[in-house]
Amino acid sequence: MEQSPNSSSTDNLSIDILILAAGLGTRMRSNKAKVLHELDGKPLIAHVCRTAAALAPEKIFVVVGHQADEVKQAVGRELGEEQTGFVLQKEQLGTGDAVDAAREFLQDKDSMLVILSGDVPIIRAETLASLIQQHRNQKAACTILTVELKDPTGYGRIIRDENKKFSHIAEQKDGSKDELKVREINSGIYCFNTRLLYQMLKQITPSPVTGEYYLTDVPALLRENGETVSLYLHNDAREVSGINNRAELADLERLVHRRTIKNLMLESGVSFIDPKSVCIGADVRIGRDTVIYPNVYLEGDTVIGDECEIRSGTRIKDSKVGNGVIIQDNCLITDSEIENDCTVGPMAHLRGQAKMEEGAKIGNFVEMKKTVLGKGSKASHLSYLGDATIGENTNIGAGTITCNYDGKNKNKTVIGNNVKIGSDTMLVAPVTVGDGAMTGAGTVVRKDIPENTLAVGQPARNIRKVTSE
Ligand code: UD1
Ligand code: CA
Repeated sequence: MEQSPNSSSTDNLSIDILILAAGLGTRMRSNKAKVLHELDGKPLIAHVCRTAAALAPEKIFVVVGHQADEVKQAVGRELGEEQTGFVLQKEQLGTGDAVDAAREFLQDKDSMLVILSGDVPIIRAETLASLIQQHRNQKAACTILTVELKDPTGYGRIIRDENKKFSHIAEQKDGSKDELKVREINSGIYCFNTRLLYQMLKQITPSPVTGEYYLTDVPALLRENGETVSLYLHNDAREVSGINNRAELADLERLVHRRTIKNLMLESGVSFIDPKSVCIGADVRIGRDTVIYPNVYLEGDTVIGDECEIRSGTRIKDSKVGNGVIIQDNCLITDSEIENDCTVGPMAHLRGQAKMEEGAKIGNFVEMKKTVLGKGSKASHLSYLGDATIGENTNIGAGTITCNYDGKNKNKTVIGNNVKIGSDTMLVAPVTVGDGAMTGAGTVVRKDIPENTLAVGQPARNIRKVTSE
């Protein structure tokens, strides 16, 4: 016989987490499982995993079903393998069935089980910690995170008894008229005594309306068995918004950006000319007195220093920008680093670990890939600089190209300090240009140029008269 754990021992129970993520999400009208849709540049499931990990649980189980492999990969990118267990729910028979799918791993554990939904992505770890705290304090068998909504349509309603204590949950499709008037809803986030949950789960029956097994039937069963079911009414309804369709997804994306921007203005001292037109990911950090112009998109793991200007139409992803940097209009910068006092653009493209050292400049229509542009060096117009190392105070003339690709391999170009590369020079890599060297306009450099040497080549020859006809 299984024994009910004595309640006073819940204090030191370890935490396990179960994330439900097997559903397709029909209302997304997508071929892609709902939890794989992206919010703030990351799949919904990744957000939930990150929050889950912040609670330092013993283990995180994820129930997968639709596109199980892709969902596993998305989880794998966020969590360590040891920490994670996957459970396959073959057929999506409801949230009760989804939890039951993990029975073999959890039913005998003396733990506290925090259940999260893969489609409720912006719940904060602090909120979950408070939920857990209340669950412990009240020695509850189940604590439900609830919020009040102006329009509760679609959610399970929290029905309280005459003493305002929990009675049961009424689902949208199953509830009576009166029940559906209630505005306090079930967020789908709970804390359970693991053993008791799995005992009660054996007793739930399919909904007569939808045929699904509802996890939401368990709290009422616990209560009928004399256990405490506690309600944690949270004041931020947006935080537990579940995403069921693309309009809700877009709303939440906007909310994430809005909150980030407000925080940057009020806490970090960043100016926005038109905050409504700007998208800033939640992880982006920006320094004091930096000004962000309209229609800028900053995303991923991006850090921008103090006193920068980021002009309109620029997108920066996973990049580091120092202090006093000016980024002109319509630049694309990914996986790159820009040191203090550089200027970039307009219409420049940095990617693949491009690095600009202090005070360097790249101008109109310059693309840099896996290239270091040294201190104070400039490439002001129309260039491709790929797989190159360029020294200090060197000038790259308009139209210069590092011909890094020979059809098979990518080859390196090395350019020294104080070099003057003439306009339209083709540097056929692998090739090295020594310190203080110069090239004439239109030179095709196939061999290394020694220090302090002028190289010219490929001059035009006048070959014949032409007539216009
Ligand atoms: C559920 C709750 C509802 C609550 C709402 C909050 C039930 C019966 N209802 O409704 O009270 O107000 O969440 O957002 O639980 N899932 C599976 N396997 C399944 C079914 C669902 O893994 O068989 C997963 C989904 O992928 C999703 C989560 O469980 O991540 C919630 O399922 P969903 O169908 O969205 O439940 P709701 O109808 O929103
Ligand atoms: Ca939902």
